[in-house]
Amino acid sequence: AVRLRVREALGARQPVGEVKVQGWVRSVRSQKEVLFLHINDGSSLESLQVVADPSLEDRDLTFGSAVEVRGKLVKSPHKMQNMELKAETIRVVGPCDTWLFPLKMKVRHPLEYVRQFPHLRCRNNTLGSLLRIRSEATAAIHSFFQDNGYVHIHTPIITSNDCEGAGELFQIETSHETSESAKKTHFFSVPAFLTVSGQLHLEVMAGAFTHVFTFGPTFRAENSQSRRHLAEFYMVEAELSFTESLQDIMQVMEDLFKTATSTVLSKCPHDVELFHKHIAPAQLFFFFFFPPSCRISYNEAVATLKRASQTFTFKPEWGCDLQTEHEKYLVKHCGDVPVFVINYPYDLKPFYMRDNEDGPQHTVAAVDLLVPGVGELCGGSLREERLPFLESRLRRLGLADAYQWYLDLRKFGSVPHGGFGMGFERYLQYVLGVDNIKDVIPFPRFSHSCLL
Ligand code: 4AD
Ligand code: MG
Repeated sequence: AVRLRVREALGARQPVGEVKVQGWVRSVRSQKEVLFLHINDGSSLESLQVVADPSLEDRDLTFGSAVEVRGKLVKSPHKMQNMELKAETIRVVGPCDTWLFPLKMKVRHPLEYVRQFPHLRCRNNTLGSLLRIRSEATAAIHSFFQDNGYVHIHTPIITSNDCEGAGELFQIETSHETSESAKKTHFFSVPAFLTVSGQLHLEVMAGAFTHVFTFGPTFRAENSQSRRHLAEFYMVEAELSFTESLQDIMQVMEDLFKTATSTVLSKCPHDVELFHKHIAPAQLFFFFFFPPSCRISYNEAVATLKRASQTFTFKPEWGCDLQTEHEKYLVKHCGDVPVFVINYPYDLKPFYMRDNEDGPQHTVAAVDLLVPGVGELCGGSLREERLPFLESRLRRLGLADAYQWYLDLRKFGSVPHGGFGMGFERYLQYVLGVDNIKDVIPFPRFSHSCLL
């Protein structure tokens, strides 16, 4: 017998005489004359209908059990499906105690419920679709960069620097370094951390390959229980040499978003439809509309917020970070479309951002992309490529020694450059309309929770 995945069986053009399909039972319906099963093996949202003689029924043949079915693949008489499998033998490979199994047949469990079972929730339709989409989106993002001449770099996960300077670091020690002796016995001889961003390592590589990207896990010890923060998340980062304008960075963000999203929509339409039908039915999706008018400066953003009739918990004030409520207001104000905010106050942003010289240390060439329902999706900037500017800023921060190598990059063939990072989970949240970030990653890690 030919072994077919469910997806292949469903898409077959012709009947096939002898096939074998393996998977997990999604439904069992036993009638007097006939036994109906639906088998899913993760290759598609749709399950394969199996039609069998009631004599093949077995008490282990239940919802959730693993089975192998052999038989004939035939045209289905039903309008709703193309092919079905006429079973000759059904073998239960692994039974499932349906009483104890937390998923129930034909129930659309809420995302909060299945979140309690990170080891089992992937067998549920919603998480199944999500993870297939996540896989396609990963491939689409890699293709976007590869097709546009970027070199992929594996930036390190263990690092000795804090790129964002925000102090949200997880420090690494071996299991026998107690906190007391740690000072003497650091494995690396220096304090080491899980990376918060691959940017600085990408800047090294942009000095040789011109356009580079990385797409890997990043870690932040943000003690936040929000629906937009994880302690471990994936970030897509790009760095471009010979780039002098934020417009160029914004263009790459927009192109990446549009190309990856259209690929995902065409590769897994049914999986995406599940979200737009059942998870975020009220949301309007204007994915491909980035109005040029929605590129505003931080100055304009603050002025808009000050004019708002709405009262905010945090009073909008020049020099203060935009809070979630502010971001939401700005996105609404622009008509529920993606909004770029540029040129932030110097003191709000990390040391590497380029001084706009519009006043003494007044603003830097930073850009954030805000999107409906999620807030900040991307953050980027032009980098300070001028040695004197960078050196004096690092010196003021007491970091000039630690970043000697970074200053070197400005001594040996320095060029104007810039880049950005896009939170991959936030991207999925936005495209699929998923409220909580914990539901778009296979195994979420956040404060007070590290299951499995
Ligand atoms: O704005 P961030 O902090 O930018 C950087 O780290 C730059 N070094 C990137 C670069 O220019 N190469 O983070 C980038 C994006 C944010 O816009 C957000 O989407 C996401 O990463 N992000 C998080 N996603 C989930 N959980 C968290 N705790 C996140 N922190 C940031
Ligand atoms: Mg940011």
